Amino acid sequence: MQTIALVLAAGQGTRMKSHKPKVIHEIMGIPMVELVIDAARQAGCNETIVITGHEAEQVEAVLPAGVHVVRQEQRIGTANAVAVAADTVAELTGRADKASETDPQNGVLVVLSGDVPLLAANTIEKLVRTCVESKSAMTVLTAVLPDASGYGRIIRDAETGEVLRIIEHKDATDQERAIKEINTGIYCFALDNLFTRLALIDNNNAQGEYYLTDILALLKAAGQRVTALAVENPEEVGGVNSRVQLADATALMQQRINRAHMIAGVTITSPQTTWISPRVNIEADVTVLPNSHILGTSYIASDVVIGPDTRIVNSDIGAGSVIDSSIVLDSTIRSNVSVGPRSYIRPKCLIEDGAKVGTSVEIKGTHIGKGSKVPHLSYVGDAEIGTNCNLGAGTITCNYDGFHKSHTVLGDDVFVGSDSMLVAPVHIGSGAVIGAGSVITHDVPADALALERSEQTIKEGWAARHRAQHETTHQFTTREEASQNNG
Ligand code: UD1
Ligand code: CA
Repeated sequence: MQTIALVLAAGQGTRMKSHKPKVIHEIMGIPMVELVIDAARQAGCNETIVITGHEAEQVEAVLPAGVHVVRQEQRIGTANAVAVAADTVAELTGRADKASETDPQNGVLVVLSGDVPLLAANTIEKLVRTCVESKSAMTVLTAVLPDASGYGRIIRDAETGEVLRIIEHKDATDQERAIKEINTGIYCFALDNLFTRLALIDNNNAQGEYYLTDILALLKAAGQRVTALAVENPEEVGGVNSRVQLADATALMQQRINRAHMIAGVTITSPQTTWISPRVNIEADVTVLPNSHILGTSYIASDVVIGPDTRIVNSDIGAGSVIDSSIVLDSTIRSNVSVGPRSYIRPKCLIEDGAKVGTSVEIKGTHIGKGSKVPHLSYVGDAEIGTNCNLGAGTITCNYDGFHKSHTVLGDDVFVGSDSMLVAPVHIGSGAVIGAGSVITHDVPADALALERSEQTIKEGWAARHRAQHETTHQFTTREEASQNNG
């Protein structure tokens, strides 16, 4: 069965007070409209159409591949916003709108809102199932809210409970406004005859708009079945119209995601300060410590410990690794690797099993082989480091000469003494040793010692003489002497 999602994203969203259209504002780094598209795809929709209008180019620029875009030239109402997709729908289904019968088995159109980012995929699935199983021409997703003001209200037959029509708040009587069941603006329609019937809607109402909601009464008048599905969790259908609601939706998303991970076996010690984006996969027995952000498309294997104070973006972390108080961007870290505290792994790093990137180390575009260690205070950029190397404290790859970036290559089992500069391009053969404090500008053969520093000089007794010379002005007291004086 063809299930086409149609996402309304033509509105401006003036209450956002933004130069950007509302639907591209982000929740955990993902534009709201994309979250809606993701949910539709997860729910099994095989095609997605996005209706753009206000600042269409900006919205279209963030849309994922494979989405069909239809521009609505004038925002004259939600019925028009759906109607403009008629040609695209006909192309996708390969058949005309007119059918002798209306049967959802022949295909459905699921109407979603680009500014309702929390709608869960399983709610969409349930909506479609309800429509198909009840053979309805339309199933409307409703919610019962303590404060229904502003929303369209669901009018039901007092006796049978059957849905009869939707009345917009602005057109409703006081009696109708007392109804707490609202139209979420999310629907599943049978495709048969849908566009033919949408063309019958007029704009004879309080707002002078073509209301999509009017289709309900039209379908009823044509003898079609219309059903309603009440959403279990009304939080899912909250629209985002302001920055305050954007933050509220983000917090709800955070809770939902953290909860799902905890249920699946992830320890999150401080869910309030942990931010995990929807496209992150985490295996069981991972521990996430406070103030950690795992964003983008990331994968965290079992027994990893992340945090505290860590940010991981678009990266994979292998089993048993520990990432402490560090930042990891667009990189792959394999198993039993230790990173941090306070290190910065910049894009395109690959750190192999059992390696260590220790305290305050910055690495970029670097491959670190199995078991190799960069334990303290280093910068390693554009480097290829073999297995079981040790880069002493303060080792720096000088990869930039002001014009070009160059590579540093180390074989296996290389030992680099502390505070050495490896001036790229340079190649250090396997098993070589670099003496501490060397500036290495030439290749070092395998198993050689490279030493680049001036010879040490010793001046016997120099320090004692130096002190004696300054004795009269020597006012320095040790902490011990000071405390004895005070006592
Ligand atoms: C709509 C429903 C209302 C429901 C509410 C839920 C109608 C007539 N009313 O009201 O019953 O309770 O949603 O939030 O549908 N849009 C377009 N093009 C247009 C008009 C709107 O793309 O020409 C988009 C808007 O950007 C928005 C969505 O459609 O994303 C809803 O439109 P809006 O005018 O805000 O309808 P509501 O007044 O919220
Ligand atoms: Ca030196």
